This record gives sequence, structure tokens and C-alpha cells, in this order.
Amino acid sequence: MAKVFIMDHPLIQHKLSILRDENTSSMEFRKLVEEIATLICYEATRDLPLEEVETKTPVAVAKTKVLAGKKLAFVPILRAGLGMVDGVLALVPAARVGHIGLYRDPETLMPVEYYCKLPADIEEREVIVLDPMLATGGSAIDAISQIKQRSPKSIKFMGIIAAPEGLEALKNAHPDVEIYLGALDEKLNDHGYIVPGLGDAGDRIFGTK
Ligand code: PRP
Ligand code: URA
Repeated sequence: MAKVFIMDHPLIQHKLSILRDENTSSMEFRKLVEEIATLICYEATRDLPLEEVETKTPVAVAKTKVLAGKKLAFVPILRAGLGMVDGVLALVPAARVGHIGLYRDPETLMPVEYYCKLPADIEEREVIVLDPMLATGGSAIDAISQIKQRSPKSIKFMGIIAAPEGLEALKNAHPDVEIYLGALDEKLNDHGYIVPGLGDAGDRIFGTK
């Protein structure tokens, strides 16, 4: 079954409170999404393998550890996942970035695909999918299915807020995908919005409403 990690770090909790506040401006919202993404990414990369090397300090030769050449690719789900990209690249600047364009049909809540551009060497990479909101789970499930067709080494999902319904659906659809979340909320409302959530993440990041 899929492993799920829900962050309990005080910095994430604090930033999430401000993020949820309806009075938080788009400018501040964008900055917080980026910062929270950095903090979650720190946990999501905890199992990256290391190898020992010798490093000559000004005093002696030390046995030190470096990342064992494991290659990462981040794949934001457009639009709102874009808000997390700079935050994760702050930790892994050499990673590649793919993009998947999806939006939810407002009536059916089903994902509608409109773009997919992934790194050419994705078969050699560990992929981390980025989307701040996991609501019904339809978008994340669809994006991960598209990525699986290209056979990456592994896939993780990083989100900021999830609804129990979306988490369950994602776990069932892709039990091999580890899930990293900033918070697990109460439920979905009749319009498929996360309660209490933060509203429409894309609109709040880009100021489109
Ligand atoms: C939002 C969000 C997720 C999706 C989550 O995107 O960024 O991609 O909804 O909902 P789901 O789990 O029910 O699929 P939206 O469809 O609003 O598109 P946008 O980012 O382009 O505004
Ligand atoms: N997408 C969002 O941006 N917010 C929600 O609460 C649900 C889906």
C-alpha cells in the first residue's frame, strides 16, 4: 500500500495557517507556496542514496558523503503546481522539470488533459509530481498515469493540502507512489473544494479571481 507522510513540522503548520487565510495577498500566497514546497521537499528527498568520497580539507583528507548520482525530475501539474517549482529547485537545482497541463471540468470534476512535456531521459530519473491541492485525486491520478507510460525509475507525489477522498483515491490508483502532504483536511464540499482548504490554489497564486 502507498506510504503517506503528513508533515507535522511547526514551520509548515505556521506557514499553512497564513496560506489558508482569505486575506493573504497573491504575492504573499506565492511566496508561502514556494517556501512550503521547499520544506516538504526536504522530507521527500530524505531517502536519496549517498556514496562515500574523499575530500581534502585544508587540514586532512576526510571521508564524506555525496548524493549517489540519483537523477531527479520535478513535474508540476499546471497551473497551481508551477507555484512549487522554485521552492523545490532551491534544494535540487540540477533537477529537470517536466510539465503536465490538466484542469478539472467544473461540472464533472474530471481532469481534462491539455499539455504534457517530460524530460527526454525520464526513464533514468526519480520523478516528484507537484500539485498543491489533492481534492478528488483525479488530476494527480491522471498525471501519474501519463508519467508511468514513460517508465521513470519511481514516482512520488508532493501536495500541500489533501482531502481524505483524494488521498484514498490516489493510494488505490497508484499504490506504488509515496505521498508527501502538508496537511490532510476534513472533506470535500459539493463543488469538489477541500474543506477548510484554501480555495482555488491556481487563482490565488496567479491572482486570476
Ligand atoms: C486544481 C489543483 C489540482 C486540482 C485538484 O487545479 O491545482 O490540479 O484542482 O483537484 P482534483 O484532485 O479534484 O483533481 P484546477 O483544475 O483548478 O486547474 P488550474 O490549476 O489550471 O486552475
Ligand atoms: N482545486 C483547488 O484549487 N482547490 C480545491 O479546494 C480543490 C481543487
